[in-house]
Amino acid sequence: MFWPFVRRSLLVSVLTGVLLAALVTTSNVNAQAAPAGAKTTKGRIYSATQATRGEQTYMSTCVSCHPPSTYKGAVFLNWQGRTLGELLEFLTEKMPKNEPGSLSPKEYAQVVAYLLKLNGMPAGRLDLPADPAALRGITINLLPDKLTLVPSLVTDPTR
Ligand code: HEC
Repeated sequence: MFWPFVRRSLLVSVLTGVLLAALVTTSNVNAQAAPAGAKTTKGRIYSATQATRGEQTYMSTCVSCHPPSTYKGAVFLNWQGRTLGELLEFLTEKMPKNEPGSLSPKEYAQVVAYLLKLNGMPAGRLDLPADPAALRGITINLLPDKLTLVPSLVTDPTR
């Protein structure tokens, strides 16, 4: 009688521990702000001129299937947390749907710049590079700062 009781309570505490650990880990990931120095789409990574060129391309090549509102705000949150390299690769390989790969690398980068502008990301001085490899280190972050800066619930061991 005694032994099963011990085992059950042990099992319960182990399970609780696992659950707690899972909870803490998840909230840590969700609440964590981008580490200092990590590049995100908020880091002034494209130029206004580049976005304007991208808008022209978008209006001639993409708009027939996607009105700009399809890539703005909540719908574009599909891409939240993924990298800009993935987006550029996706566009280069799959879009425009009727003629994939038909734009130059420079034009694809301009279209990405336009999508960033459409989503209120700040422009800077330099153009976004047209090389997907260079964009793999840039995380898409379209959320307002006040949401991403919620302090982590767990002490960050790297600080
Ligand atoms: C002939 C119609 C057509 C054209 C032109 C077109 N697309 Fe698409 N696009 C689609 C379809 C259909 C999908 C759905 C995914 C699929 O089928 O691959 C899609 C998916 C997408 C997605 C991903 C879906 C999402 O919600 O995240 C993006 C981003 C995108 N297109 C951007 C563009 C851009 C930029 C251009 C212009 C360079 C373009 N598309 C031109 C038809 C088109």
